[in-house]
Amino acid sequence: MTGNSNFRNLKETYLFSEIAKRVEAFKGANPQADIIRLGIGDVTRALPETVIRALHAAVDEMGDATTFKGYGPEQGYSFLREAIAAHDFASRGCDIAADEIFVSDGAKSDTANFTDLFGKGNRIGVPDPVYPVYFDSNVMTGHFGVPTASGFENLHLMPCFPENDFKPAIPTEKLDILYLCSPNNPTGVAMTYDQLKSWVDYALANKALILFDAAYVAFIREDGVPHSIYEIPGARGCAVEFRSYSKTAGFTGLRCAYTVVPKELDVSDGSGGTLNLRKMWLRRQTTKYNGVPYIVQKGAAALYTTDGQAECKERIDGYLKNAGAIREAFAKRGYRVWGGVNAPYVWLGVPEGQTSWEFFDTLLNRLHLVGTPGSGFGSRGEGYFRLTGFGSPERTAEAVERLSRL
Ligand code: MLT
Repeated sequence: MTGNSNFRNLKETYLFSEIAKRVEAFKGANPQADIIRLGIGDVTRALPETVIRALHAAVDEMGDATTFKGYGPEQGYSFLREAIAAHDFASRGCDIAADEIFVSDGAKSDTANFTDLFGKGNRIGVPDPVYPVYFDSNVMTGHFGVPTASGFENLHLMPCFPENDFKPAIPTEKLDILYLCSPNNPTGVAMTYDQLKSWVDYALANKALILFDAAYVAFIREDGVPHSIYEIPGARGCAVEFRSYSKTAGFTGLRCAYTVVPKELDVSDGSGGTLNLRKMWLRRQTTKYNGVPYIVQKGAAALYTTDGQAECKERIDGYLKNAGAIREAFAKRGYRVWGGVNAPYVWLGVPEGQTSWEFFDTLLNRLHLVGTPGSGFGSRGEGYFRLTGFGSPERTAEAVERLSRL
């Protein structure tokens, strides 16, 4: 066979694999070091009790021939999709039908897999810094055009920096596909209603598609921050939304998420006709994917009960408290900080004269703390650093204490 040479255009390892490799090497050389990991955004609290009970009950159903389930419905069980439509959308005035919801194993895989639906020659807007999956998945599938001196012909980096509060400006050129994430990974900043509306208006005017990653929506605490892109008029005609239970409910190890593809999303087929994105996504998923296990979907549905909601909120409040403490510890020492208010991530400027990876080494070697170098999220991330609020309260307090030695 011949291999997919697009892979030559990727960095050799995925960002979080590189960090894990470096931390393992440090641990090998310093076996006594008590390392606190605030790098990858992985939850530490156990699953909510309500979910555990639902999982147990579903396991029992699978052990009884009268209630056993084999292959599930293509887009996910309707008990879950109906609950999503009612609780996550109708309750916020968004008109999303259950058959526009596709249950899946993760927002990471869905955002990456969605590139299967892109035709050739699209101009793709990607914020910089950015969750690396958006960028790398387009490189893998060859949607980047040709490599250029500064990047790739068809991947248009949308710079984010302190002056624009790490929110990309509306493009002055015509782009066809736009990746947006709010509350943002990695910077932790969240778009206001007016800011998101400007993107929807741009997309409608330019017949562009917005891929809106709302994986961190449950962390929004401030008014004026939309919880769904469908709160913006017209968004059904230009946007796909990705959601996840990973950070909302501690499902990073269980795996469940969903993607919303409204029925009216028709795109050009490049030769005068149209293609319907919802039908294409259905075709793609039914061909390449067999769905989330029944047991897991039962666990996810339990999150929409009153107890489930309360347990999630209590966990997220805790993670936000951690993020607030980290943010405050750095701000007190004169660091520039963003995020940590509507998001679990705190983004900070590293001390002058150091690169992001040098700061990573400083924290690891001196304080035995692991974070994520901003440059791993794109060239505009150089000079910045990300820490997560997903540690336990005790370990986060210990990390904050160690920061006093910086
Ligand atoms: C992160 O740390 O950026 C996230 O955990 C990655 C992910 O959700 O895939």
